[in-house]
Amino acid sequence: MTWKHLFTSSIGKKLVMGFTGLFLISFLVVHVTINSMIFLNDGGAAFNAAAHFMSHNIIVRLLEIGLFAGLILHIVQGLMLTAQNNAKRGIGYAVSAASTNSTWYSRSMGVLGSLILIFLVVHLANFWVPARADIYLHGDPDHDSFAEMKEVFSKWYFVVIYLAGVFSLFWHLFHGFQSAFQTLGVRVGRYKGLIVGSGIAYTFIVCILFALMPILIYTHVLQ
Ligand code: HEM
Repeated sequence: MTWKHLFTSSIGKKLVMGFTGLFLISFLVVHVTINSMIFLNDGGAAFNAAAHFMSHNIIVRLLEIGLFAGLILHIVQGLMLTAQNNAKRGIGYAVSAASTNSTWYSRSMGVLGSLILIFLVVHLANFWVPARADIYLHGDPDHDSFAEMKEVFSKWYFVVIYLAGVFSLFWHLFHGFQSAFQTLGVRVGRYKGLIVGSGIAYTFIVCILFALMPILIYTHVLQ
């Protein structure tokens, strides 16, 4: 397969989706682990120290460029693959046959991904933009990310947006985790059960932890 085929053919696009998907799955492990430090309920001290390290370490800064590149590639290829599949399916596609062969969430990866994209725009505007603006524009290296969280999650509508985002993420990961391994040819034989089981465990743990953050801050359990 040539580089051109990797980005233009159906199988090439699926491979790109699988690799970038696994990369984003690893990013979420780091993200949810660092954020979970707020559950220590120490006024955000441990979480802010970790966030400070992440935003000042040169290797993490370089990885952030890779993260955004991977994210953009995953979104663009995902939208193209969805459009291509919809066009192939045509208008007379037998819906009943589709629903017996696959789950609603596996057929809705494009819609779920688009909902996550809307959530991400709000999310980056809430946290990433103010953090970078404080550090690089306002000369304040000690940006207080926990104070920012308390500010955002004091508003009910942000709590609703975050819970809707995590709900979409749940179904996207529920299918995406094992689908990525299947595309890369790993979800076979004796590894199949392990990969399906790890995908379900990963999806539940990551999404429950993310969902608890806005809920526990809004209800003042975490302060
Ligand atoms: C309630 C859940 C979440 C909270 C409280 C939260 C909090 C944060 C915070 C504080 C930052 C800024 C870090 C910094 O100072 O740079 C951040 C960045 C980011 N978050 Fe989240 N996040 C949540 C869920 C998610 C989810 C579900 C996703 C993906 C689907 C996500 C993707 C990102 C990305 C891509 C960035 C920018 C990466 C970077 O900082 O380099 N977050 N988040």
